[in-house]
This record gives sequence, C-alpha cells and structure tokens, in this order.
Amino acid sequence: MSKILIKNIKGLFQTGEHLTHFKKGKEMDNGDLINNAFLAIEDDEIIAFGKMEDWGGITDWRDLEVIDAEGKYVLPTFCDSHTHAVFAATREEEFEDRIKGLSYEEIALKGGGILNSAARLQEMDEDTLFEEALKRIHNLVEYGTGAIEIKSGYGLTVAAELKMLRVIKRLKAASPMKIKATFLGAHAFPKEYKDNHEGYMDLMINEMLPKIAEENLADYIDCFCERNYFTLEQMNRLLEAGAKYNLKPKVHVNQFSIMGGVEAAVKYGALSVDHLEELDENDIEALKGSKTMPTFLPGCSFFLSIPYGKARQALAADLPIALASDFNPGSTPNGNMQLITSIACVKMNMTPTEALNATTLNSAYAMGINETHGSISIGKKANIMITKPISSLARIPYSYGENNVEEVILNGKIIKK
Ligand code: NIG
Ligand code: FE
Repeated sequence: MSKILIKNIKGLFQTGEHLTHFKKGKEMDNGDLINNAFLAIEDDEIIAFGKMEDWGGITDWRDLEVIDAEGKYVLPTFCDSHTHAVFAATREEEFEDRIKGLSYEEIALKGGGILNSAARLQEMDEDTLFEEALKRIHNLVEYGTGAIEIKSGYGLTVAAELKMLRVIKRLKAASPMKIKATFLGAHAFPKEYKDNHEGYMDLMINEMLPKIAEENLADYIDCFCERNYFTLEQMNRLLEAGAKYNLKPKVHVNQFSIMGGVEAAVKYGALSVDHLEELDENDIEALKGSKTMPTFLPGCSFFLSIPYGKARQALAADLPIALASDFNPGSTPNGNMQLITSIACVKMNMTPTEALNATTLNSAYAMGINETHGSISIGKKANIMITKPISSLARIPYSYGENNVEEVILNGKIIKK
C-alpha cells in the first residue's frame, strides 16, 4: 500500500464530498477552495482532505510519503476533453500561408488542412504513430493534464481510421493518463469521395463502425458539422448509426457557421457540443436544462484568429462551460491547458476560477469521467497537481505561457519529469 500526505497546502481547489455533477452559471465562480489544507492519498484514491486544523496527525508512518506544500496550491489535474493528439506531422507551411493572407477554409479547399494530415497519417506505421503520440501526451502531464480525450479523423480510410483508434487504445494501456477515444471518421470527405459523399457515409456506417465496435475501439462518436464538411442531415444519420453501438455523441459544431447542429446534438443526447465560436439564442435555448456540456476551444480561436466563444452570454443564461485545448496540427498546435485558461480569461472574460472549473470539473463531465476525476472528492482518483509557490490561483491564467505546475500525481503516483 502506498500513502501520500500533502500538508500545509495554501489552497486546495475544487473540493467536495462527492462532486459528480458540473457547475453552471454563477456556481462557476466558486472554486470550493479550502485555505491551509491537507490532502491524503492511499494507493490510487483520495481518502481524506480538509483544513490543517482538522488533520488528525500521523499514526502510521509505514510507506508514507509526506509532501510539504507551504505556499503552494493543489488542484485536480486538468481534463482535456477535446483533442486530436494523434497525428503524423505538424503543418507549419499552412501557418505561413495563413500569415500571407490565405484563410483556414481556403487552405482546406486547396486540399490542405485535414486532408493534408490524413495523407501523412496514412503513410505512417502504427508503431511510430503510437510512440510519437505517447511522447506528445506525456509532455502535457508536466503542464498538469491528467486526462485526455483523443479523436480519430486523420485516417479517413477504413485501415487508417482503425490504425488511429488502435493507437489510442494502446495509449490507454501505456499512459498513466485517463484516456477516452472518439471516432471522428466524419472529419472531412476524403479526396476519393469528393463527388461521392454517399459512398463515404456508407463506408463509415457499414464498414468502419461495425469494425470499431467489434474491437471496442471507441467510447464516443464525433462529426464535423460545418459548411464544406458534413451537413446536419449527414450528422444526424451518423449519430443514429453510432447509437446502435452505444456511442454517445461529442460533436464539432458552430466553428464557422450555425447549421442547427447544437439543437440536433442535444436531441441525440450528446455529452458535449464543441467549438461554438458562433452561438445564437436558439442554441442557448436548446442547451438550457440539457445534459450536454457546451465546450469552448479558445486555443483554436486564438490560432485561427476567429471569434471567441461567448462565455459571458452562456453563463448569464445559467449554462455550464467546459474548456478544452483542441490540440491538433492545424488549428491548435498546443495542448497546454494552463495557456487555455489564460486565453479564456483574457479573450472571453472568464474569471480565473471559472476557467479552472471549466478545465477540471466541467471538462471531466464533458469526457464522461466525472464520477472518478475532475475534483478533490473522497473516493475519486488521486490525480492532482501541486503548483509552484504562487501568490494566488489567478497566477495560473495570469502568467500566460508559463508553467506554474511543480509536481503531478496520477493514480496516486508521483510522475517523474
Ligand atoms: O477542431 N474543425 C475541425 N477539426 C479540428 C482541426 C483539424 C485540422 O485542421 O487538422 C478542429 O479545429
Ligand atoms: Fe477539434
């Protein structure tokens, strides 16, 4: 049995007896912070926490590691509920093209973008893809990410989509991070199906999905519902096909245009609707009282210079918000969740507490792991991060680009750098 006691914590963030829900509206500005606190871990679980004055002292020193966190904050690790972290190559040349004036959409229409990434991924063997992705996500642990959702969608052939999902399955076994896999065959129509969209729909529904289900390769299903990509009708058909295999939707909607995707996804019981750079009153109405988590991806807005999600409007309507990185080689080549909180505060007017709630508790919900992750609760997984000595929690979003995390514990084990 291994035990860790963290004492003299300056502030313990996101605590609760059994926080399985999410926070919405005004609740999001409450961090359930305990000042001058302790936290006790046994094996991979949180077994006790509270104010230092209520700590009972040490009775059994056997196998106990004591960490003194004087001046430091302790938080649940970030849950990054939306990424495309398995890819074969970066896309700097498109970055330069955009600087020279081409838009992301224009680059995609020329055969760049997602199709560029798909061509590169199809060529790469599974082992190399796996090793590179493992290094890539492990690098994020240092910045405090303890759970990550990863999508397919750079395969776009039966073989390459399966290859990507098998890589994610291997990552689940090899990494101490909690990982969820999402099937995103509907990321773009492959070149070969440019004039035969029905043919690709048929391939996804009748070939990819049955094989994915047979090998148990996906937890969720996604679709990029957007002009020049997938129509609302195509998304609906896909989500219906996914439901036959118990794949809950988590979808890309409203990145550039509003096509009714939010309302439809809510109807299909989506766990989350992601992007939402565009959001109207109908969407907000559809989300009210639903079980679907609105998820903003401010890294994408920053990197593509497109509008930011209207966080204040969503919060005023008493909605919850999750924030995720969208880490991918095209629109967001960075998975640092601390930076995501910075962009959300500066560009979306979220408070530091709202941004930290949106990247822990609420994003755990958005990837379906809120019963075990996302908060400091007894019985939850001991996935926590200890900051450097900092003056306040606001330092995390404030000092943008800096790594304020000193130590990360995943499943009760201290992660070596
Ligand atoms: O979430 N919008 C669709 N998919 C990704 C970007 C994919 C890419 O450019 O490679 C996103 O931004
Ligand atoms: Fe995405």
